[in-house]
Amino acid sequence: SGFITLDTGYKNTGATKSAITFLDGENGILRYRGYPIEQLAEHSTFLEVAFLLIYGYLPKKAELDKFIHEVRTHTMVNEDMRKIFDGFPVNAHPMGVLSALVTSLSAFYPKAVGLDIDKEKEYLDLTIIRIIAKLPTIAAWSYKNSQGHPLNYPKNSLDYCSNFLHMMFSLPVEPYEVNPVVARALDKLLILHADHEQNCSASTVRLVGSSHAGLYSSIAAGIDALWGPLHGGANQEVIEMLQEIHDAGGNVKQFVEKAKDKNSGFRLMGFGHRVYKNFDPRAKIIKKAADDVLKALNINDPLLDIAKELEHAALNDQYFIDRKLYPNVDFYSGIIYKAIGIPINMFTVMFALGRLPGWIAQWLEMRRTKEPIGRPRQIYIGETARDYVPVDKR
Ligand code: CMC
Repeated sequence: SGFITLDTGYKNTGATKSAITFLDGENGILRYRGYPIEQLAEHSTFLEVAFLLIYGYLPKKAELDKFIHEVRTHTMVNEDMRKIFDGFPVNAHPMGVLSALVTSLSAFYPKAVGLDIDKEKEYLDLTIIRIIAKLPTIAAWSYKNSQGHPLNYPKNSLDYCSNFLHMMFSLPVEPYEVNPVVARALDKLLILHADHEQNCSASTVRLVGSSHAGLYSSIAAGIDALWGPLHGGANQEVIEMLQEIHDAGGNVKQFVEKAKDKNSGFRLMGFGHRVYKNFDPRAKIIKKAADDVLKALNINDPLLDIAKELEHAALNDQYFIDRKLYPNVDFYSGIIYKAIGIPINMFTVMFALGRLPGWIAQWLEMRRTKEPIGRPRQIYIGETARDYVPVDKR
């Protein structure tokens, strides 16, 4: 009843008030809890940013140390959970495996479901710590599974990113030596992905959580939303597109033309954004980081040159100028992932690792402010009332 406004894709509808992330798409501004993304990417660490997003302030040294320590002591995953991996086909996409295992956390920690977030504060903190600690383990194992390799246990002497790299790349016969340049690059990428206000996956987490579903189920739903090629799946598609351009002889103009042709079904992946209409501040930082990392690792990747040429060609093309289409966060991130040895089918998983604190913060805010269950309305355009016809009379 009453007046329903229609806004498919929620292009102009605010679904919530939020105090977590500020985003000004016209001016390319992104701040977590008021702190500019540029300063956080330069000076902070991923776990500190996670604390900031979730608890709302920069932790004092003792608080941060405690948070990091707790994350380190919960990196192990229950052996029974490990057995679930045996049931997946070897070449299962790691995103499908990740989502299934995050859902199963609710089965292993049933108290996390139906938690009274006001009365059981300590258990809530533990629930949060557990998923931050275990997601890298589950993610690395989903990759190892896709390779048919034995799984590596976490090594808690290592920091968050180094531990992940160890679980990803150590072989029984050849332990992986973590390069600090690689660990720092990864940490920076995770910071840049940590939150992005009411995007598709965060809105999904809030919507699922609004039924008072548990944190783990809500986040699993967020992982599924992120998987799509129009959202987090774009980073995998960018590198595949750059490779395709490279293999076809490196003629970027031809691909720019194809992207302009609506009948081609092809879009420049890593270009355009619902909110940023001038530039994506994360893309600026990542472009520079890609240069730095490749230089530090002494890698010469022709795909980076193609990406730069493609960016240049698109930014000077009237079609892209008119529609205010710029490189987004995914455009250069894949080049860094590739340089540090992350396989392509893990790119979206990396995005999920980064976005986790944002999802947690969004879920918590939605519950704390006691938002009602999310329940959009519709404008019905189907048949009017008609009588049922028995099957032999149709
Ligand atoms: N290549 C070619 N044309 C494009 C592109 C592109 N990448 N993106 C948008 N357009 C055109 C689109 O065809 C439309 O043209 P017209 O006005 O003539 O119909 C116009 O630009 C506006 O596009 P839209 O699809 O209405 O915009 P949207 O806000 O619904 O979509 C988007 C935003 C990010 C889904 C879209 O730009 C896109 O599909 N980009 C490629 C995929 C991608 O890189 N996604 C990652 C987004 S950033 C990370 C994340 O949030 O996950």
